[in-house]
Amino acid sequence: MKKYTTFILVGIIIVLAAVLIGTLVYLKNQPPQERAFQPIVTIAPLEPDSSQWGLNFPNQYASFLLTGQNNTDTVYGGSSGFSHLERDPRQVILFTGYSFSREYNDDRGHEFALTDVRAIARVDATTPGSCYSCKSSNNPDLWNDLGLAAFDSMPFAELGQQIDQTIGCANCHDAESMRLVVTNPSLEAAFEVQGIDWRDFSRQEMRTVVCANCHVEYYMVGDDRILTFPWANGTRIDQIYAYYQELAFSDWTYPGTGTPLLKAQHPEFEFFTAASTHSNAGVACADCHMPYVSDGAMKYSSHDIHSPLLNPELACGQCHTDVEYVTGRVAAIQTQVFTAKIAAEDAIIDAITALLAAAADPNADPVLLEEARALHRQAQFLWDFVSAENSMGFHNPEYALSILAEATNLARQAQMLAAQASGHPDLLQTGVYYTLDPVPTPVP
Ligand code: HEC
Ligand code: HEC
Ligand code: HEC
Ligand code: HEC
Repeated sequence: MKKYTTFILVGIIIVLAAVLIGTLVYLKNQPPQERAFQPIVTIAPLEPDSSQWGLNFPNQYASFLLTGQNNTDTVYGGSSGFSHLERDPRQVILFTGYSFSREYNDDRGHEFALTDVRAIARVDATTPGSCYSCKSSNNPDLWNDLGLAAFDSMPFAELGQQIDQTIGCANCHDAESMRLVVTNPSLEAAFEVQGIDWRDFSRQEMRTVVCANCHVEYYMVGDDRILTFPWANGTRIDQIYAYYQELAFSDWTYPGTGTPLLKAQHPEFEFFTAASTHSNAGVACADCHMPYVSDGAMKYSSHDIHSPLLNPELACGQCHTDVEYVTGRVAAIQTQVFTAKIAAEDAIIDAITALLAAAADPNADPVLLEEARALHRQAQFLWDFVSAENSMGFHNPEYALSILAEATNLARQAQMLAAQASGHPDLLQTGVYYTLDPVPTPVP
């Protein structure tokens, strides 16, 4: 009996061992596991043509192309590219003497970038190549070939002959690995100045940083018009303003008041990352603007980037259960910020009106006048930083309201000093803008 038991046990062990060996041999001879995706074509490094990348990634490409069809507006944003100057003629006064008083339209989809930059009335014979920096997927290749200085200093029209693609895959992705990358050498340099290597960022951080290739404040340096981000002191508004002060940089001088002014660009990255609730919580630009969508069982990031208010279920609903509540919050925040923004504009225009009179008065106190100009300069940059940012404050509501409150405060001080400089209390009048006849309208 004992013999039989041993026999059976040994038999079982042999069978089990055979099965194990068989299984191992079988597994070893299986073909290597397939990657989730097999490229159909090999994409050349820095390939400018997005349709080539589209052969491998049809969903991302198809959704990307939709940005060329979007035309729906929201209360403060959207995709029609409406004129800021027509909606808010105060901005014609605020930008008098500068090209933005000629034409200034709301941003629209990425597919339109190249068409729009070529059509804008601000472009003329003096426009440098730098203005193509955020408009084309030809750039990474051209930066590589020409170098940044040759790219930026080349006249806009001449560089344009080498550009036939709008924004595309090569602006955000490395062709071989599809990783998100910094492609704009000006962004690379701006991080370097702060001692930051973008390669150390996590994947989630790159889902914000990749947008900073373009959605940032910038200016152009020297005769070569090198595109530069004013981040050496940091990216908060006070640090950026201090940077421009150290350089005594200005974009233009306001006609009549003599104020050297700065034009803010589109500082979405700086604004959002300045300790906003969402940024602090680790939320990225792509979370709201590129939510995951499905094609059957395939999930992919929608590359149809636009206002999240047009698809809040997808954009906000992934994290917030009560989508109606949070979109209601957006409306409330934007209305508050808009109201504060208009109050700042009125205050700055009152300051300009007083400064125009004081500067024309030969007896005005030059020291007080200069102080008034300095206050006008700062007020206008603070206001514009919020105004040119495209979310009407939503990306960072408290920050927007505190900046606008300070802008209004500085503008009122500028007005008072201008009145004091020329000793004319009637320069303390407010709301003069509304009595201007005719009310300024954009130059066609
Ligand atoms: C928590 C969600 C969220 C995050 C994160 C976010 N945004 Fe937005 N963004 C919005 C909302 C909401 C608006 C307002 C849209 C409107 O008014 O129609 C907006 C507006 C914009 C607009 C203007 C859109 C238009 O229709 O004109 C741009 C450009 C933009 N965001 C870029 C960015 C960038 C770049 C980042 C990261 C630095 C970012 N956003 C982070 C929600 C977000
Ligand atoms: C404005 C920047 C930007 C552009 C332009 C862009 N992408 Fe993306 N892409 C992203 C971001 C952000 C992600 C999310 C990456 C992540 O989560 O790591 C992404 C993800 C992807 C992925 C990974 C899978 C997925 O869907 O999340 C693929 C593949 C991809 N993109 C293909 C493309 C193709 C093809 C193009 C050109 C038609 C393109 N992308 C253009 C920013 C961009
Ligand atoms: C290569 C430069 C570039 C990069 C990178 C880039 N953008 Fe843009 N973006 C632009 C330009 C330029 C426009 C305006 C185009 C126009 O008005 O013709 C724009 C427009 C937009 C708009 C407005 C769309 C609409 O329909 O109103 C949103 C929203 C936006 N970008 C978000 C993002 C986000 C989020 C990222 C990062 C994932 C990003 N962008 C990366 C250059 C860029
Ligand atoms: C990836 C996740 C994520 C997405 C997407 C997201 N949020 Fe949030 N949201 C958060 C987190 C996390 C908080 C902070 C919650 C907390 O601390 O209680 C927050 C807070 C908020 C708050 C309160 C802000 C405050 O200062 O108290 C509002 C309003 C809000 N989100 C609106 C939106 C809207 C609108 C969208 C879509 C456009 C959106 N969120 C998309 C994660 C997200």
